[in-house]
Amino acid sequence: MKHLLDIGDLDAVAIGHLLDLTDHMVEVNQRPMPKVPALRGKTVVNLFFEDSTRTRTSFDTAARRLSADVMNFAVSSSSVNKGESLRDTIETITAMGVDAFVVRHASSGAPLQITQWTEASIVNAGDGWHQHPTQALLDCYTIRTGLHRTGGFDGLHIAIVGDITHSRVARSDVQAFTTLGARVTLVAPPTLLPPEVHTWPVEVSHDLDALVGEIDVLYLLRMQRERMRDALVPSLREYTTLYGLTTARAARLQPHALVMHPGPMNRGVEMAVDPAELPGSMVLHQVTNGVAVRMAVLFELLGSGTELATVRDATTTTAP
Ligand code: CP
Repeated sequence: MKHLLDIGDLDAVAIGHLLDLTDHMVEVNQRPMPKVPALRGKTVVNLFFEDSTRTRTSFDTAARRLSADVMNFAVSSSSVNKGESLRDTIETITAMGVDAFVVRHASSGAPLQITQWTEASIVNAGDGWHQHPTQALLDCYTIRTGLHRTGGFDGLHIAIVGDITHSRVARSDVQAFTTLGARVTLVAPPTLLPPEVHTWPVEVSHDLDALVGEIDVLYLLRMQRERMRDALVPSLREYTTLYGLTTARAARLQPHALVMHPGPMNRGVEMAVDPAELPGSMVLHQVTNGVAVRMAVLFELLGSGTELATVRDATTTTAP
């Protein structure tokens, strides 16, 4: 694997391989000294043209735990503000010696375009409404471990609820979950569903109450108001009434059901309960797993089989 641009480039075997690799990284992260030399000598650049809390910090942490050198490119204080093009920015940083760029950009397709301008590996950390492949991987890992799934997701029913139209997470998760065999239902008002949704391998519902008692995973999405040009719901209060996770809906979830959210959450809108009070809340587990999944991805792109043996050996010799 040279790049990770689109979760659709990975089949079930490839996703399963990365999730298995993540198990090793979880072991590393549980050590008193969570660091291995696997990517010593490699340089990873975090290039975020859009805001991020989770993805940027977890890629930064992941690269450092594998002993890579990390450059964090701050767009707000860069020559982008003097008109430097994306191509010149990439070629300039590449000239310093870079093995991987982790790229977040508001334009769909920007990470793919960047592959034309550098020999470094490119990891898509979210591009427009298009893709967020490491979010999909960490969500798969969280479901696999949260529901103790060792194989595929056959028989699982996952509801993804909210602003599907503007969501790169929804697009990536639908591909990953269905590739692993899950049944996915998208739950949203018609105004928050993309016109092409009938071509996706999903069912569609506008009635969360009809589903909430039978699903295995309730995956809530943020109302992405910064990407909306029009008012797509009459009011946030009405949205919460129809599609939010309220106390009444939380009480109807099956005992084993997981509640997930990619963050950042709109408390009181899609998340109308305190997730800390939900036994099935995976919200912070998703964040924790994000570091291990991103270690697995960087290792897969920049490491080698020999170095994986080093990670495993170090796990067995230094784990408490
Ligand atoms: N889930 C996610 O991508 O969060 P950030 O925007 O904070 O990175």
